[in-house]
Amino acid sequence: MKVVVIGTGYVGLVSGACFADFGHQVTCIDKDLSKIEALKQGIIPIFEPGLDDLVKSNVNAGRLKFSTDAKDVVADAEIVFIAVGTPSRRGDGHADLSFVYAVAEELAPLIKGYTVITNKSTVPVGTGDEVAAIIKKHAPQAEFDVASNPEFLREGAAIEDFKRPDRVVVGVESKRAEEVLRQLYRPLFLNETPIYVTNRRTAELIKYAANSFLAVKIGFINEISDLCDAVGANVQEVAKGIGLDKRIGSKFLNAGPGYGGSCFPKDTLALSKTAKDANSPLSIVDTVIASNDARKLSMVDRVVAACGGSVEGKTIAALGLTFKPNTDDMRDAPSLVIIPELQKRGAKIKAFCPEGMREAKNLLNNVEYCENSYDCLEGANAAVIITEWDEFRALDITRISHMLKDKVLVDLRNIYNATEFEGSGIAYSSIGRPQKV
Ligand code: UGA
Repeated sequence: MKVVVIGTGYVGLVSGACFADFGHQVTCIDKDLSKIEALKQGIIPIFEPGLDDLVKSNVNAGRLKFSTDAKDVVADAEIVFIAVGTPSRRGDGHADLSFVYAVAEELAPLIKGYTVITNKSTVPVGTGDEVAAIIKKHAPQAEFDVASNPEFLREGAAIEDFKRPDRVVVGVESKRAEEVLRQLYRPLFLNETPIYVTNRRTAELIKYAANSFLAVKIGFINEISDLCDAVGANVQEVAKGIGLDKRIGSKFLNAGPGYGGSCFPKDTLALSKTAKDANSPLSIVDTVIASNDARKLSMVDRVVAACGGSVEGKTIAALGLTFKPNTDDMRDAPSLVIIPELQKRGAKIKAFCPEGMREAKNLLNNVEYCENSYDCLEGANAAVIITEWDEFRALDITRISHMLKDKVLVDLRNIYNATEFEGSGIAYSSIGRPQKV
């Protein structure tokens, strides 16, 4: 099938490359000429495991192309995906849809023959209706349907999530559009992936409800972890104990420094705004948003307490800056709250992150960036693990005990067990596991 993807951000690029890998003929469009030129040369603007090879092999096979010019390819396409950004609008938290609407207006006159215009961007309920109205206004003769096909991929596991999803959600208002999308996803259908077809508004809401539910799950376990600390219970065991109940499920129950990234913070805010506008407020989601903001800040109190009540004049080694491992994404990362607050309380910060430092340099001031974990730990008073990159999971404990002046390690991701530090002299603390060494 001939597919056009407009927007080569995270979702657009991964979707385009994966559709091409299914065997479809895909053109990815972006206004940013330098980005398109780079992509043509195989330079991928984001860090995503496996994406560069996938792009390269599909470009070489002639199934994946990049262009700044939508004209001819849209005319030829059976499906056009809108995969542009929908950032939080400053002030009210509502998703900013100006990019989505601009694309609808631009592509309207280019449509030739029946085309399914499909929103992959995360868009509030009713956006599909508005996109259809814009196209109708600018190209009254165009033969088209507007569909919603939200994406559920996680950064760092995007290709796996795209190719082996739990489900594909398709929101349509016509049988004809449904058939086109079923055809597109046929390779997954053959793998027995459920293709869940619903109406457009419902599909739009499913995406926000899914992300918000996951955010609620994380917010819940984070608060339970504080309770574990207070009453002497172990949050990992509580998570396991409740997760074995199939109605709850074991995933997304890892306590930590709060969720970040480009999706949960933005989508919970946008859903809350949609709900308020519809006079049907979501108090649970509102509470989780506030709880998560407070969570990030409260991590600083843990570090300060572990350092004996003050970090004034102390050097803290921060390991991991990105909002999670296997990405270079720093958006809404807990480190962006924790590090400035530690600095405010008088700490000097050394930091190391396998992929986050390039972007962190634009976002964090007065940080000494290091070459590797040990370089970062050397001479610091205390260390804090903020993100659970694999390479932090097997640090040489004897070595770090000689490096850390005050021998304090705060593990905000529970990647170690207290028993591993027995006899090392290191005062190890973690989240919701109150045992002491
Ligand atoms: C999230 C969803 O998981 C995807 O399904 C969705 O497609 C995507 O948003 C999106 O809307 O585009 P992502 O933001 O890449 O994906 O990252 P997650 O793996 O979901 O992690 C989000 C945050 O939650 C991270 O800060 C992570 O550290 C935190 N988290 C996650 C926890 O603190 N505990 C957990 O148990 C799981």
